[in-house]
Amino acid sequence: MDSDQKRELFRQTLRELDSVLAGIDDSITAMATCAAVLHERIPYASWTGFYRVVAPRLLRVGPYQGGIGCLEIPFDRGVCGAAARERRPQLVPDVELFLGHIACDAAARSEVVVPIYDPAGELVAVLDVDSHERSAFDAIDQEALVAVALRLRPCLGDNARTWTV
Ligand code: SME
Repeated sequence: MDSDQKRELFRQTLRELDSVLAGIDDSITAMATCAAVLHERIPYASWTGFYRVVAPRLLRVGPYQGGIGCLEIPFDRGVCGAAARERRPQLVPDVELFLGHIACDAAARSEVVVPIYDPAGELVAVLDVDSHERSAFDAIDQEALVAVALRLRPCLGDNARTWTV
């Protein structure tokens, strides 16, 4: 898929999310819907979903699409842990070169993870999209997922945050 096709894909995806997330104030509904839309739309995604902050420096799997993922990820492990710890997106073209990568799926080759915040600005989760293709994700994907995080934010004011870090 070339860059123009990717931009068009995410333009349509963000438009769909705007429409389906309008007025939603239930974080599970919002995350589940978002995972479903992204996974269906992104042809190179093998796993799409959320890890929620459930204790100080601990992530636990939330709504997702794809094969079974790791249930818990401490902040000091994996790409998801790095996104939570550093509170910034992680773009990993080759997971085999990422020190501490967690191989929940032996076929995973690349991934992008972005932090998810609630309306108060607290980190409540990370959004993880994995692929079986090497270098599947680039700056266009990362930027689009950051835009997804912004759209989700108003929907996450209820009970997504079970612990403040
Ligand atoms: N690849 C992730 C682990 C999560 S799953 O594979 C669904 C990581 O290293 O953070």
